[in-house]
Amino acid sequence: MKLFFHFLLFCFFTLLFNTCSAGNVTYDGRSLIIDGQHKLIISAAIHYPRSVPGMWPGLIQKAKEGGVDAIESYVFWNGHELSPGKYNFEGRYDLVKFVKLVQQAGMYMILRIGPFVAAEWHYGGVPVWLHYVPGTVFRTDSEPFKYHMQKFMTLIVNLMKKEKLFASQGGPIILAQVENEYGTYYEKFYGEGAKRYSQWAAKMAVSQNIGVPWVMCWQEDAPDPVIDTCNSFYCDQFIPNSPKKPKIWTENWPGWFKTFGARDPHRPAEDIAFSVARFFQKGGSVQNYYMYHGGTNFGRTSGGPFVTTSYDYDAPIDEYGLPRFPKWGHLKELHRAIKLTEHALLKSKPTTLSLGPSQEADVYDDGSGVCAAFLSNVDNKTDMNVVFRNVSYHLPAWSVSILPDCKNVLFNTAKVGSQASVVKMVPEKLQPSVASQCKGLKTLKWDIFEENAGIWGVADFTRNGFVDHINTTKHATDYLWYTTSIIVGENEEFLKNGSHPVLLIESKGHALHAFVNQELQGSAFGNGSNASFKFENPISLKAGKNEIALLSMTMGLPSAGGFYEWAGAGLTSVKIQGLNNGTIDLSMSSWTYKIGLKGEHLRIHKPDRLNRVNWVSTSEPPKNQPLTWYKVVVDPPSGDEPVGLDMIHMGKGLVWLNGEEIGRYWPVKTSKHQECVQECDYRGKFFQEKCLTGCGEPTQRWYHVPRSWFKPSGNILVIFEEKGGDPTKITFSKRKISGLCSLIAEDPMAYKPKPTVHLKCPKNTSISNVKFASFGNPTGRCGSYSKGHCHDPNSTSVVKKVCLGKNECAIEVTEENFDKGLCPGTSKKLAVEAACS
Ligand SMILES: *[C@@H]1O[C@H](CO)[C@@H](O)[C@H](O)[C@H]1NC(C)=O
Ligand SMILES: *[C@@H]1O[C@H](CO)[C@@H](O)[C@H](O)[C@H]1NC(C)=O
Ligand SMILES: *[C@@H]1O[C@H](CO)[C@@H](O)[C@H](O)[C@H]1NC(C)=O
Ligand SMILES: *[C@@H]1O[C@H](CO)[C@@H](O)[C@H](O)[C@H]1NC(C)=O
Ligand SMILES: *[C@@H]1O[C@H](CO)[C@@H](O)[C@H](O)[C@H]1NC(C)=O
Ligand SMILES: *[C@@H]1O[C@H](CO)[C@@H](O)[C@H](O)[C@H]1NC(C)=O
Ligand SMILES: *[C@@H]1O[C@H](CO)[C@@H](O)[C@H](O)[C@H]1NC(C)=O
Ligand SMILES: *[C@@H]1O[C@H](CO)[C@@H](O)[C@H](O)[C@H]1NC(C)=O
Ligand SMILES: *[C@@H]1O[C@H](CO)[C@@H](O)[C@H](O)[C@H]1NC(C)=O
Ligand SMILES: *[C@@H]1O[C@H](CO)[C@@H](O)[C@H](O)[C@H]1NC(C)=O
Repeated sequence: MKLFFHFLLFCFFTLLFNTCSAGNVTYDGRSLIIDGQHKLIISAAIHYPRSVPGMWPGLIQKAKEGGVDAIESYVFWNGHELSPGKYNFEGRYDLVKFVKLVQQAGMYMILRIGPFVAAEWHYGGVPVWLHYVPGTVFRTDSEPFKYHMQKFMTLIVNLMKKEKLFASQGGPIILAQVENEYGTYYEKFYGEGAKRYSQWAAKMAVSQNIGVPWVMCWQEDAPDPVIDTCNSFYCDQFIPNSPKKPKIWTENWPGWFKTFGARDPHRPAEDIAFSVARFFQKGGSVQNYYMYHGGTNFGRTSGGPFVTTSYDYDAPIDEYGLPRFPKWGHLKELHRAIKLTEHALLKSKPTTLSLGPSQEADVYDDGSGVCAAFLSNVDNKTDMNVVFRNVSYHLPAWSVSILPDCKNVLFNTAKVGSQASVVKMVPEKLQPSVASQCKGLKTLKWDIFEENAGIWGVADFTRNGFVDHINTTKHATDYLWYTTSIIVGENEEFLKNGSHPVLLIESKGHALHAFVNQELQGSAFGNGSNASFKFENPISLKAGKNEIALLSMTMGLPSAGGFYEWAGAGLTSVKIQGLNNGTIDLSMSSWTYKIGLKGEHLRIHKPDRLNRVNWVSTSEPPKNQPLTWYKVVVDPPSGDEPVGLDMIHMGKGLVWLNGEEIGRYWPVKTSKHQECVQECDYRGKFFQEKCLTGCGEPTQRWYHVPRSWFKPSGNILVIFEEKGGDPTKITFSKRKISGLCSLIAEDPMAYKPKPTVHLKCPKNTSISNVKFASFGNPTGRCGSYSKGHCHDPNSTSVVKKVCLGKNECAIEVTEENFDKGLCPGTSKKLAVEAACS
């Protein structure tokens, strides 16, 4: 015990003094060596363009509070190099500012420059213009690609050097990455050029002389000194390609991304903690959560196609910047336990002991008194009691216990001690701006601008047959009009017998609205697993000339895959069925094209360009009307909670606030016939489809509007609605942690600290009510606990006494605090649900 205390003290001082002093970074087979010291690194991915500068300090701080040492980000080439040699490092793309904030927080930075990144980001981060530089093939031994890649990487490296941001210069950057997930899955598409390219990329990176190591993930043949690293849900079994290289996990996925139309992925906190503990148990040295804060794909930056505007990722910090409980809290406790073992882990080689068929201990003990052990049970069903050093330990299935002194269990990955939270989106009506209220306007004033269905202004070009959508728009817009016309004779039978001809369309993607004579006839779309789709809808035709206008849309350019930049989109076949002639094929007819929409072209979402069209004012904006722009001037929502725009009553489109791009909205529902889970069993290997929810629900209802985009009044909200919705039902919603829960079992054998219910409300709020408290054998989940047969009737008053009015409170789960003689022989728990306000 005394020893343990000294040990803790020792760790406390090492923790105190090892905060990120700069220095050259090298490595050996065990770990990175920073300024001469071996270190274990826990890292958190936060992509700077997926939040806003106003959020960066808070996000970085929450990562630090969560026990993280380093922030990791990709560099987003196509956000920086808008056209060849024309660069953007402003606003969300202010990379230097982001890295400096990491440095100011006393944290390390891992910079994955790529510049190919995948990342569910449009075109995998590579600029679209590069595809049109003659002779370019992405990610292989292609001269123009290598030329532009090297030019951009050198630019980024020089920028970091100029600002002295590499650790070797006293900065925070300790690792850099070149390329991304190439070897294992994608190299095979590129034949002989692949190897030449990956070896070239490695050499080119090393020649940049940055004084810190380079990594390549999923690149088993990464040449020395580049370190090959692992990306997966588990990396404990990963072995780098040389015993001289440390074991690095560049992507541990604590959740997964979402696509429009698909269900919500979740990964349980217990399983993430298990994977991380196993990694360090088995000699891991750097572990990065991809993502720790996923954030938002603002504007049209998402890739896929079909990746949602939200990139929440079920990450430890949610899209809006709030810690996700219990995930964030559970991992924080895990990090603390790992840090307490760091000295032992780096000092000695492990001894592996078998404790059972699927149970083992890894003991880091060099005999000098510094000892740490990890006891694991990888059985996916059975809890086990194991004996380690003559002491018996209970090991839940699929869990790791961490013993920083080889005696006492400080943390078990399956025992969640952290509070859970009840998070609400609290609606608040759009309020007319104070300025307009002064003029006597109490109701919202809407301005409307209607787009033409089809060609506006001068047509871009006409040709027989179809062009490729992406080749034509080059991602300057999501929209491309394909228009043609047909003459219907007076003698067509359908005009007499009351039937409707059927329009049959095939498209390579991604989505489509079909108009005939300015009327919307129907829509169709692909999805994240297959962008292609078919459209089949009866249409209204009249005798004489009929205008057919098909609005084809991209929903995020592809972000990965062999030769992904060549994947096409747009129409491949258009036919009409049910005419006297039978089915007529319009595919080779004369088609006239228009790129984008008029409002888009005039950039009327920009405050300084608003009056380039004639808006029509009304207090009753039209509902269910396609191709309509809406504009309204509003006040910010009250308070300071993060804000989402509730678009559940709208169809599909784009939305901006004060000229800032919120993104694509589309509350498309997932199928209710798919399978969803009520409760996710954390035990057993996780895979993306394991714990899905949201069947039959809108894929994305709320769209994050960063607080820093609001002005005190006069905020201009501009919406482009493609197919029809009810704008009067749009609201802001404030994201609030409205309640906290904790369910903790007593453990008479527990070493100090005893199991404790610990509740902490968000800043500036306190516990205003105890909605539920039961010491006994309560059951259920946060928000729906219920009492069991064993219950101390004084539970609520005990908890109230300790917690009411406090921002945070703690109650040890011991009989001493409750009814001493309660239900003898039953092992008891305390469940609490409290409200914060
Ligand atoms: C890093 O190494 C270089 C070359 O060996 C040396 O000049 C420099 O001072 C070192 N930097 C630090 C911070 O130790
Ligand atoms: C475990 O107990 C045995 C005898 O019961 C003893 O010989 C041994 O030294 C003990 N081991 C440890 C690690 O305490
Ligand atoms: C995506 O569309 C294909 C048909 O193109 C369908 O088979 C598949 O089930 C869809 N996937 C989802 C997730 O809806
Ligand atoms: C994708 O969807 C299209 C149209 O729905 C279908 O024809 C095609 O077979 C699908 N492809 C795959 C790989 O599922
Ligand atoms: C796009 O255009 C390029 C030439 O610029 C052509 O090689 C390619 O095949 C086109 N892609 C599609 C899908 O049509
Ligand atoms: C009406 O005429 C069309 C075109 O000849 C034919 O395809 C359709 O079956 C007819 N419908 C009825 C109800 O007779
Ligand atoms: C229908 O067929 C006739 C005779 O082949 C042809 O002259 C006419 O153009 C066709 N009509 C349409 C709408 O294709
Ligand atoms: C549990 O492990 C067994 C044996 O390895 C395996 O067959 C089974 O699929 C696993 N079950 C789950 C739910 O992971
Ligand atoms: C939160 O508390 C700080 C002081 O701790 C105070 O300045 C601030 O006004 C409070 N904010 C709100 C929204 O109550
Ligand atoms: C409940 O609290 C009351 C008042 O403090 C006390 O008299 C009583 O003994 C308590 N009951 C139990 C079961 O602890």
